[in-house]
This record gives sequence, structure tokens and C-alpha cells, in this order.
Amino acid sequence: MDEKDLVLRLNWFFSLEITQVENYLAQSRAVKDEYISKGLERVASIEEGHADNIRSLIIGLGGKPKIISDVIFPILGSAAGKILSLPNVSSMMKKNIMVEAKAVQDYQELINKLEKHKEKYLHVIQTLKYNLIDEDLHSSWFYQITQHHNNPCWPLSPQLNKILT
Ligand SMILES: [Fe+2]
Ligand SMILES: [Fe+2]
Repeated sequence: MDEKDLVLRLNWFFSLEITQVENYLAQSRAVKDEYISKGLERVASIEEGHADNIRSLIIGLGGKPKIISDVIFPILGSAAGKILSLPNVSSMMKKNIMVEAKAVQDYQELINKLEKHKEKYLHVIQTLKYNLIDEDLHSSWFYQITQHHNNPCWPLSPQLNKILT
């Protein structure tokens, strides 16, 4: 994979991460539960870190960061970041997991391709692997929220039971 192709791929991830920031901030504002709202705000800030590190990779490769619109649209079937009414937390988290899983899958595919030129792209591979792990952690947290009502294993939030019923 040459630099030009890699910049194209990275711009897709850059757009995804930027969309994720907007999406999670919108969710954070929409949910009532304070703990989940704070958690989503924190996830948004981690996604912002991803957008920043991918932006640096693109610039480092001599490319220009560009936003491709609506990268999540084909996955969710609706525009992200536009939450008009009070969301159902559990189904929102399930959709979030779908988007995170797609990101993990795409990160892994790119990592696999770059592993063939390991010496050349060592730093890129490392950054993408860390981002992938973060996406997995997000999914785990989202999943735990969907399961909390049936199987509460730690006191996630005093308000959570009320929200999920
Ligand atoms: Fe991310
Ligand atoms: Fe994520």
C-alpha cells in the first residue's frame, strides 16, 4: 500500500471519528442519566483523540485531512448526531456497538494490510491498534449498559434502573 492509498483510507477513519464525536456528544445531551451522559461525553473525548491522532498521521504522510460526509449513515440507516426525542438507552447502545464493531473490523483490515510493510508503517500500525482497543473498550461499556438491567454486576448508576425499565 502506497502513501496515497493510505491517506485515502485514513481520511475515511478521520471522518468516522469526527462523526463519532458529534454522535456521542448529541447522545450525551439527550440521555437523562447523569452517569451515562458523563460516560458518553468521555467516549466522545476519546474519539476526538482518535480524530487528532489520525489527522497527525495524514499530515505526516503528506496528505490533507478531509471529511467525507455521512460515513456512519450506511451502518445506522439514519443520520448520526440528530437525536430529536428522548432516546431508548438500550437500543441506542446496541446501535453504538454496531458502529464500534464496524470501526474495529475496518481498523483490523487496514492493520493487516500494513503489517506487510511493517518497518515502513510502524508508527501508523501502533496508533491504529490503540484506536482499535479503545473502540473495543467502548463496546464493552455500551454492552454492559444494555445488560445492566438483567444482570447488574456493579452499581453502574443509581438512575440506570429507572431509565431502562
Ligand atoms: Fe474512535
Ligand atoms: Fe469508539
